[in-house]
Amino acid sequence: MADLFRERVALVTGAASGIGAALARALAARGARVWATDRDAAGAEATAATLPGARAAALDVTDADAFAALAERVVAESGRVDLLFNNAGVGLAGAVADLTLADWRRVIDVNVWGVIHGIHAVYPHLIRQGGGALVNVASGAALAPRPGMTAYAATKAAVVALSTSLRAEAALHGVQVNAICPGFIATNIMTSTTFRNVDGEGLMGRVPLKPITADDCARIALRGVEADRPIIPVSRMVSVDWGLFRLSPRLSTWVSGWRAKQFAAHRTGD
Ligand SMILES: NC(=O)c1ccc[n+]([C@@H]2O[C@H](COP(=O)([O-])OP(=O)(O)OC[C@H]3O[C@@H](n4cnc5c(N)ncnc54)[C@H](O)[C@@H]3O)[C@@H](O)[C@H]2O)c1
Repeated sequence: MADLFRERVALVTGAASGIGAALARALAARGARVWATDRDAAGAEATAATLPGARAAALDVTDADAFAALAERVVAESGRVDLLFNNAGVGLAGAVADLTLADWRRVIDVNVWGVIHGIHAVYPHLIRQGGGALVNVASGAALAPRPGMTAYAATKAAVVALSTSLRAEAALHGVQVNAICPGFIATNIMTSTTFRNVDGEGLMGRVPLKPITADDCARIALRGVEADRPIIPVSRMVSVDWGLFRLSPRLSTWVSGWRAKQFAAHRTGD
């Protein structure tokens, strides 16, 4: 593809806030025709309103039928769909022993089924058109141990595995697949994360890292998509964590014991 973004029709999920809104802005700045979608319809409208040629739509990614209908609508109204950014996601923190099955189901519904619904709805259009990109927002949590965030990490590891396996299949149709793995990004995710028996505020106060901005995250992500990197670590911290885990899973797990202790120290409830 000569220019992956210019004049391409890009559907972004979870675009009302944070990384999704920043991806929408970065894509529009690169000349893409953006569909900003979110379960927060007003938020999606607000994102689209600031971008030339952008459209907005309400979309809850856990609703497979709604995703399929929206993909049809995008193709009907914009003539095609070229890029899908499966970005919508929710956080979940807490010791596995404290999680309810409802906690597990919610995070799997949004973070895994949401991505599957997106691929199921959009991939056939890309195959028919003979090209495009499926870009899935995973997390650094997929690439190295994240005690206290086991359920979330499991959903993001599923997204990475889905992306890397699909990548080889999709290449036969001219479709690229990329997994973006952000580290610690300044967004609303901390307020929307479910902290199960954890003092989230106290815990976050102990994180010895400065978050990067959502706009920087989007810029790095699009650079990685343009280079068609299979897995795109967004921060140096993610690259280091991932590198250590590949070098020595045992050492990486030992190092992450510090994180496990931090979580245990901030446990609340019985
Ligand atoms: N912020 C970080 O540090 C960080 C790190 C790694 C990965 N991520 C991932 O980046 C993605 C974006 O997160 P963010 O940090 O911008 O968070 P955010 O909370 O700022 O934005 C998430 C957006 O997704 C939307 N959303 C949630 N559930 C939805 C659903 N069922 N259907 C449609 N939209 C839904 C929310 O309304 C919100 O607008 C997520 O997949 C998240 O897991 C974030």
